[in-house]
Amino acid sequence: MSQRPQRVLTGITTSGTPHLGNYVGAVRPAIIASRAPNTESFYFLADLHSLIKAQDPARTQRSTLEIAATWLAAGLDPAKVWFYRQSDVPETTELMWLLTCVAGKGILNRAHAYKAAVDRNRADGEDDDATVTAGLFMYPVLMAADILIFNADRVPVGRDQIQHIEMARDFAQRFNHVYGRDWFTLPEAAVDDSVATLPGLDGRKMSKSYDNTIPLFVPQAQLKKLVFSILTDSKMPGEAKSTEGSALFQLYQAFATPDETAGFAAAFGEGIGWGDAKQQLFDVVEREIAPMRERYEDLIARPGDIEDILRDGGRRLRERYAIPLLRELRDAVGLRNLGSAASIPSDAPASARAAPPVFKQYREADGRFYFKLVDGERVLLQSAAFDAPRDAGQTIARLRRGELALADAPATLGDGVDAATVQAAFDALAAADAEKAAS
Ligand code: TRP
Repeated sequence: MSQRPQRVLTGITTSGTPHLGNYVGAVRPAIIASRAPNTESFYFLADLHSLIKAQDPARTQRSTLEIAATWLAAGLDPAKVWFYRQSDVPETTELMWLLTCVAGKGILNRAHAYKAAVDRNRADGEDDDATVTAGLFMYPVLMAADILIFNADRVPVGRDQIQHIEMARDFAQRFNHVYGRDWFTLPEAAVDDSVATLPGLDGRKMSKSYDNTIPLFVPQAQLKKLVFSILTDSKMPGEAKSTEGSALFQLYQAFATPDETAGFAAAFGEGIGWGDAKQQLFDVVEREIAPMRERYEDLIARPGDIEDILRDGGRRLRERYAIPLLRELRDAVGLRNLGSAASIPSDAPASARAAPPVFKQYREADGRFYFKLVDGERVLLQSAAFDAPRDAGQTIARLRRGELALADAPATLGDGVDAATVQAAFDALAAADAEKAAS
């Protein structure tokens, strides 16, 4: 067990202008988490990812500035956490290529964002890949590089990102397997279901795509105007109001203490007028936002200072982690100084290199036939019983050719083994066969 603090890493896509929903759902909880003891936190602006969608240079620059200023204004402390810009750590893109070369294309085909684009094209009668860039397709590999380059243990994300973290684990496992060592920590997604999703002005989820947002740092007068435009029912002052399903109430709750919220609920029961309720909501939001807004305006006025903070974070991170890691990884994959002695010549017997996993077929005392997939001492997969050895052999062959899904196979995973490990073992076997065929 390593004694190092838990590494928590999260990327912030630099697009658009942050709104109250982003603040309550992402920024605020992340900043609270960044103060947890015994953690090393990494927060970065995913500007390379943003190029997939936004290809307007001025907007990309502006959005990066605004989002950096938002996180700093909201209390992220660059002296205590790593705060940097993805594009300032070019080793990330180099690692992305190393991962690309072990990543299964079939896995990328299944990524939600890519599949959604294909589905839309099909529905429109277009070619599957019409308007799909290779950038969108490779998105998960870049994201895996972001995470693996700093060996993050935990990655706080929304539900929609879980699949990407699973892919990062898969690529890491394959790389570890192919290059014979635990180069990468396998990251875990951390999804916090307790954080609120805020409703927007019309009561639906606050989202840019519904055009119902309250931007985080609009001037006070505009914030007030927006709060007063929140949709309510037409109950009169004096009529009891329901808190259930009330956007106004949910917004209030996100900014008030539990006591204040209880008082607000009581006031609903007693028939508070909507105008009064909106004024109270405005007051609690403004109480929390006003000091941040002031810092934000201050920061935005000095973009050079933000630039310095980001560059400094990126520079220190590269020196401490990224550059040394890539030096090792280049060596591991064989991008080496030609003058230095090769540690293992490639014509050495395969046994001198990492031995690939093997399928073993055998007969038990019960007279029936079995197989297992073993990697050294470790059992990765254990079959059920077969009546004939041929059945066992055919099952192995179908598994290896991908004709039989692991989940459907009459076999169970070994202790503590997951499906991705078995898949990586199949890949290693295929690679070993290909090598044999070529020699
Ligand atoms: N894809 C993430 C999102 O859209 C942003 C992101 C990029 C990210 N790289 C990451 C999140 C690495 C966590 C870890 O929200």
